Amino acid sequence: MQKFLREQQAALSITSKLDSAFVCTVLAVVFEHYIIFNINKSIMTINEFNFAGKKAIVRVDFNVPLDENGKITDDTRIRGALPTLKKILGDGGAVIIMSHMGKPKGKVDMKKSLGQIREAVEKALGVPVAFAPDCAKAADAAKALKMGEALLLENLRFYPEEEGKPVGIDKADPAYDEAKKAMKASQKEFAKTLASYADCYVMDAFGTAHRKHASTAVIADYFDADNKMLGLLMEKEVQAVDNVLSNIKRPFVAIMGGSKVSSKIGIIENLLGKVDKLILCGGMTYTFAKAHGGEIGDSIVELDKLDVALGVEELAKKNGVELVLGSDCTATNGLDFDTMSVKPGAEIITCPANKVPAGFEGVDAGPESQKAFAEAIKGAKTILWNGPAGVFECDTFTAGSRAIGDAIAEATKNGAFSLIGGGDSVACVNKFGLADQVSYISTGGGALLEAIEGKVLPGVAAIKGE
Ligand code: 3PG
Ligand code: MG
Repeated sequence: MQKFLREQQAALSITSKLDSAFVCTVLAVVFEHYIIFNINKSIMTINEFNFAGKKAIVRVDFNVPLDENGKITDDTRIRGALPTLKKILGDGGAVIIMSHMGKPKGKVDMKKSLGQIREAVEKALGVPVAFAPDCAKAADAAKALKMGEALLLENLRFYPEEEGKPVGIDKADPAYDEAKKAMKASQKEFAKTLASYADCYVMDAFGTAHRKHASTAVIADYFDADNKMLGLLMEKEVQAVDNVLSNIKRPFVAIMGGSKVSSKIGIIENLLGKVDKLILCGGMTYTFAKAHGGEIGDSIVELDKLDVALGVEELAKKNGVELVLGSDCTATNGLDFDTMSVKPGAEIITCPANKVPAGFEGVDAGPESQKAFAEAIKGAKTILWNGPAGVFECDTFTAGSRAIGDAIAEATKNGAFSLIGGGDSVACVNKFGLADQVSYISTGGGALLEAIEGKVLPGVAAIKGE
């Protein structure tokens, strides 16, 4: 992509810096639009398929947040998959639903069992949903499945074959390569087993489409081109990304939160080539504060990424992007992360983000930062939000994320297109009752960001036969 842009720029021999930045943006948009447009054009979708009398195995992303009692706290992803599942059942077909939940790393972990959500899925679908407690031994259950019914498979990631990474062996171990090869071979067998349950395969797990796993990609090899397709959610999500990228109305403001700079650096750098303003909030605030020699107490920090933080600031300056960082914060010396509550007697203070006292950790954006974030969002015409501004799961520390959500709702009312992605930001929007005041809520986090970066998602490529 970078090379493509450089070559295009050279060919046009643009000299002015401003012009070249402009051409670069235009080419990036055209290029990405081309990729997404092509995807839309060349893949069969389920509307062209009649499922009557067929068993369809559908990869969904039911990696939904659960509370400590296993109750679903946000069902956006289940609701997102319903149109596809209902289309199959409505045609007179049967569905075998498969998903992962969490990161059990190839081991059975009942806290991550999809059995916990079977009832909710049944309620949402309105047809009987049976449960197969071992996803790789579900042949009989799949066989017994009648048309109009559904079968939910247990968490795919209870098998290491789903991710295809060898477990219990370090990358530095000389035997690692052999183990990886063996795992790739058994991954194929695993995917083949899943494929054997059904007549056709539907990929509708947008949230996991950036993973090249057995159920999101490898399985597609076991169906011919006429019997594998993208689902309606995939189509809708890809279209939403296309809407943003092909028609960026300015100012374009992105808000990135979350705890780590390192996990978001790719998209942050990419966005710095697209947006007019970038708000960075959440835990990464303290890595930036520390990079400038600030005192951050016990706040979350990536000490080995201080140079990355400074690099982000430099790139923003170079690209003329207004970077908005949290200047103050709400800090506490007693947040219990297990119960997401403040321990009795604990102190809650407001302080500069670079002067957090020892023993305290920053857990939310302070009032000054909230004001700055809202001000930056005001007047935006395109908005992307991924990642909260604080530990919003604790009711005491929602103010930063709420200020962002409210400002986005206001800007949307004034004509902005707002795209919200990532489990936590979506949970915020739902928690604050703002879901119907934003333009689009994505079921994807990492997948959405990779799509926005212009990467072809492995889950899409597999259906295309690439
Ligand atoms: C997510 O929640 O991000 C998706 O379900 C993908 O999960 P993963 O990040 O564990 O692959
Ligand atoms: Mg994730």
